[in-house]
Amino acid sequence: MTQTNETFAMHQAEKPRGAFGVVMGWLLESGNAAQNRATVDALAPPHGASILEIGFGPGHALEMLAMSRPIGLVAGIDHSPLMVARARRRLNGRRGDAALDLRLGDAGDLPFPDERFDVVFAVNSFHQWPDKEGALAEMAGVLKPGGDLLLSIRDFRVGGRFEPPGKGAAMATVAADMLKELGLQVRLREIAHSPARATLLVRGRKVGRAED
Ligand SMILES: C[S@@+](CC[C@H](N)C(=O)[O-])C[C@H]1O[C@@H](n2cnc3c(N)ncnc32)[C@H](O)[C@@H]1O
Repeated sequence: MTQTNETFAMHQAEKPRGAFGVVMGWLLESGNAAQNRATVDALAPPHGASILEIGFGPGHALEMLAMSRPIGLVAGIDHSPLMVARARRRLNGRRGDAALDLRLGDAGDLPFPDERFDVVFAVNSFHQWPDKEGALAEMAGVLKPGGDLLLSIRDFRVGGRFEPPGKGAAMATVAADMLKELGLQVRLREIAHSPARATLLVRGRKVGRAED
């Protein structure tokens, strides 16, 4: 890929739009399927939980989650109108009995009440947020005490695939430090998909109970 094509693809991945945005939606869906599956398997929302995904793209992870167990509310924020429309179409009739609330918006300004969600997560999106600390503080704010905030970050182990090897691992360390600063209990886990690619799961648990 030439530099110009690479930059164009990167911008599309950050905010899919127009005709190529439709193609980007397909690419995200197939390219991130293993990571989305690994992330959903690692999340363990309680029965009837309220879940929120930031940067849901085509909505694959939300669909997997809602079809794998009874969920009370499937919510999400994405700043791409194209992805919001696509994910709404996808989740229509593919979410069990869960209520659906997918909104156009920004990670840095979440339009939900404090302590609304049991699980708040993001797959392959954290590295794109201009104000990462602000967005994580928003996510921690809408999380119930005892709930989990999970960032799923891809890491390439060989060169030539979208980003330098090890960039995701470095990003995961940054994320872990930010979550600790917010007072969350942090755990880092790695899932290797192949010798070339791994998913890093950075989990921050919000301590305490709602009535504390
Ligand atoms: C690389 S895609 C990943 C999509 C999906 N999570 C996946 O793994 O297939 C990143 C998504 O995050 C969204 N996004 C990026 N920055 C955002 C922000 N600041 N606020 C809301 N959504 C954002 C993009 O529109 C895009 O849908």
